[in-house]
Amino acid sequence: MSNTSNMSIKLILSCLCIILISLAVNTIAISIKRETLEFLIGNRGRGEAKSCKNENHKNNKITIPLECPKLAVPLPPTPSLSLKTGVLVFVDQRLAVVYPIVQKFKSIITSDPHGITKTWVGSDICSYKGFFCDNPPDNKSAIAVASIDFNGFQLAAPTLDGFLDQLPDIALFHANSNFFSGTISPKIAKLPYLYELDISNNLFSGSFPSAVLGMNGLTFLDIRFNFFSGSIPPQLFTQPLDALFLNNNNFMTSLPDNLGSNHILFLTLANNKFIGPLPRSIFKAFSYLTEVLLLNNQLTGCLPYEIGLLKEAIVFDAGNNQLTGPLPLSLACLEKVEQLNFAGNLLFGMVPELVCELENLVNLSLSDNYFTTVGPLCRILIEKGLLDVRNNCIPDLPFQRSVVECANFFAQPKFCPRMWSYTYIPCKTPFISGSMIPEMAPSP
Ligand SMILES: *[C@@H]1O[C@H](CO)[C@@H](O)[C@H](O)[C@H]1NC(C)=O
Ligand SMILES: *[C@@H]1O[C@H](CO)[C@@H](O)[C@H](O)[C@H]1NC(C)=O
Repeated sequence: MSNTSNMSIKLILSCLCIILISLAVNTIAISIKRETLEFLIGNRGRGEAKSCKNENHKNNKITIPLECPKLAVPLPPTPSLSLKTGVLVFVDQRLAVVYPIVQKFKSIITSDPHGITKTWVGSDICSYKGFFCDNPPDNKSAIAVASIDFNGFQLAAPTLDGFLDQLPDIALFHANSNFFSGTISPKIAKLPYLYELDISNNLFSGSFPSAVLGMNGLTFLDIRFNFFSGSIPPQLFTQPLDALFLNNNNFMTSLPDNLGSNHILFLTLANNKFIGPLPRSIFKAFSYLTEVLLLNNQLTGCLPYEIGLLKEAIVFDAGNNQLTGPLPLSLACLEKVEQLNFAGNLLFGMVPELVCELENLVNLSLSDNYFTTVGPLCRILIEKGLLDVRNNCIPDLPFQRSVVECANFFAQPKFCPRMWSYTYIPCKTPFISGSMIPEMAPSP
């Protein structure tokens, strides 16, 4: 073996310093295919994630150029020797701490079809595929693993325990579409900087990861498309989250009532087993929501007029539940709504003309209910193909339920509480304060 010090090369690597992996995501992706999409809110943190790209992973010794601390200077090809003797030099102590944790995690990975972990060698952790370094908030001259993006890597591992919870400087953890399983360690509660956690589309199970409760820095929580089950702690809904994606799990619980105010802009509860009625308070609390996805659950009871308080809602989807009663006229207050779906419920009565008048509406789905009447404005929507009322009980329209089926449905007694509230339009009744109404209104 040649003498390594003689071979020391002043490499012109500084140019590599300017290669940034820009992960800035400036748009909030909203699409009709929302359940399979990754939503990104804002670009905090991501835009800062950078990496000094270094194609040469063979080196074990690292010098620290000030402007680009992640830069590695390659040494002669004696890497295995150094590795064997355990000589790894890290640009920062924080990386040295994380190194054995990453290697341990690597050792439990059971499948890696894209060869990602082949890059997880040597001391330059910041150049490992999926790892991004940055200056941690508590020391601007230090370098730490600040963000992990394993999205779509299809890695399989029986757990993230001992990995995610052991990355003290982690701010973003994105692991969409892998085959990670197990439960989420309560220890993640101790990660002080974690603000985006996306473990969607994996094989996680067990109860809701309650560790996230009280993580006040957390603004983005996406655990959809897993196998979480049981109930959801009501406190979750009072956390300062921007986005909360719970859809496509096995949560079986009623929706919490008595909610305070909160910040959630995206909330998806679809495709679980949520039971019981839609709590009245939920709509007051979530009045800033732009998407409300409640479809494919087992929600029962009548629709509360408070739905009309969702004044920012663009998508409201409560399809395929067991909701009953008439549509409240307060829906006319959803001035921004484009997609309104109540298909596959037990709703009846008249389709309110005021709802059909909503300016931004492009899809009103009411099929598979027991509606009996549609007015002229709604009929215009039917003609335009924007309103679907197939399989209801509307006598003069085609593709309706049989007379017998409708008769059987209406033979059962129908009752909704607060019947007066179905004609109450909160946005158009300026003279009576909303809080007065529930007490003052006459009973039917
Ligand atoms: C900040 O990080 C640098 C680089 O790791 C280290 O040398 C320095 O001691 C740290 N400062 C403090 C106050 O911890
Ligand atoms: C309208 O919405 C329903 C329910 O979400 C969906 O099944 C249907 O395909 C939509 N129709 C159009 C034309 O987008």
